[in-house]
Amino acid sequence: MRIMKKIPFKLPQLSLIVAAITMISPLHGSSFAGQVGDYRLVAGDRSLQQWLLPEAPPYPAGNEPTQQRITLGKMLFFDPRLSSDGNMSCGTCHNPMFGWSDGMSTGVGHKGQKLGRATPTVINTAYNYIQMWDGRKATLEDQATGPMEASVEMNTDFDRLFGMLRNNDEYRAAFAAAYPGEAINDDTIAKAIASFERTVVSNNSPFDRWVRGDASAMTKQQVRGFRVFLDEDKGNCAVCHSAPNFTDDGFHNLGLASWGDENPDMGRFVHKPVNVLKGAFKTPTLRDIALTAPYFHDGSAADLMEVVAHYEKGGVTKNNLSPSLKSLKLSTQDKQDLVAFMHALTSEHEPFALPTLPVIEPAMAEIEKESASEFAVIDR
Ligand code: HEC
Ligand code: HEC
Repeated sequence: MRIMKKIPFKLPQLSLIVAAITMISPLHGSSFAGQVGDYRLVAGDRSLQQWLLPEAPPYPAGNEPTQQRITLGKMLFFDPRLSSDGNMSCGTCHNPMFGWSDGMSTGVGHKGQKLGRATPTVINTAYNYIQMWDGRKATLEDQATGPMEASVEMNTDFDRLFGMLRNNDEYRAAFAAAYPGEAINDDTIAKAIASFERTVVSNNSPFDRWVRGDASAMTKQQVRGFRVFLDEDKGNCAVCHSAPNFTDDGFHNLGLASWGDENPDMGRFVHKPVNVLKGAFKTPTLRDIALTAPYFHDGSAADLMEVVAHYEKGGVTKNNLSPSLKSLKLSTQDKQDLVAFMHALTSEHEPFALPTLPVIEPAMAEIEKESASEFAVIDR
């Protein structure tokens, strides 16, 4: 009974005291060292949960990623016989050893041709709402046959390819298991490859573990870097590299030096002729970013510090610059913290095993023919 009486009297008093402490405390509002905008930079805080990716990536109707589809897609992704010269697979350019990119400033295609743009990673493309630097493809299914069709990339002869796959027992069985009742054609090839790509995911980095509540997952420096990343008056990075996949799936002109070239790459503008989109490219994810140097669509930044230096200047060729881009005031410490934070976005990946590819009969038959003639020589 005593308690019952006391409570209604004490509570308002208590809340007054709390309010007073809050107002005089340096921990109040945005002056709290761990507060940026709406975010409270404390491991596991509710305000941070929007940075966690959904456990499983979305997939389109009719292509649920079953184990059989993933297995088939993995074979196709790494099979160089999908290319006309039999020497280039998706994995040649999207190489798991280089963070599913190629470590080069721009890609190298069919017969060594230098491509105009850098090879983006396949990691977390499953979460993209739009594909390619210029957004010319909507989904992974739409995208998958593009590199095969491109004469500068895999230069695939589709009739020959379909023949090869349909005449091979192992591939025929794999397609039947993955897409029962469907033909072996560009549609099922694309769906299988897309299903495999949806397994190439980075969602367990130190940053993710920190957001889930493990305070020791990121260093103090990395947490400071995240603060710079979020702070509109510092890095202002999150306006474009937004939650949860560090991209807004939008297109921006960052004023790269190559935008000043005589015939610059027009980027998104080619597919959507709106002035702001001249020289605008898709915001890439920053997950596993430490693995995929060099950076930008033209591969012009050698490392993450060079990227930060570019943003600090607010661009080089500044006509048609994104309105969200401005030169930044960053201390040396801020810049080092930012780079340290970006390193916290790399997941530890399970060891990755390449698939064993089916033996293709025509090739085998040719080898047998050759060895038969060798024997013929020995016999004589
Ligand atoms: C010769 C190198 C090369 C080969 C081979 C290649 N790619 Fe690419 N890939 C690139 C380049 C370069 C781009 C960016 C092109 C652009 O945006 O204009 C790209 C873009 C992509 C994207 C879009 C990623 C994003 O974030 O928007 C996906 C997905 C992809 N490739 C998957 C594949 C698949 C699947 C294959 C095999 C069928 C393949 N690639 C073969 C070089 C290659
Ligand atoms: C105006 C939107 C915008 C802002 C602000 C922004 N970025 Fe970017 N970021 C992009 C776009 C778009 C690209 C690709 C541009 C290109 O290659 O032409 C990119 C590319 C990058 C890359 C290279 C990615 C790769 O795969 O090549 C890194 C790293 C990066 N940004 C980090 C940052 C950091 C750190 C900040 C804050 C200091 C920041 N970004 C601010 C839009 C933005």
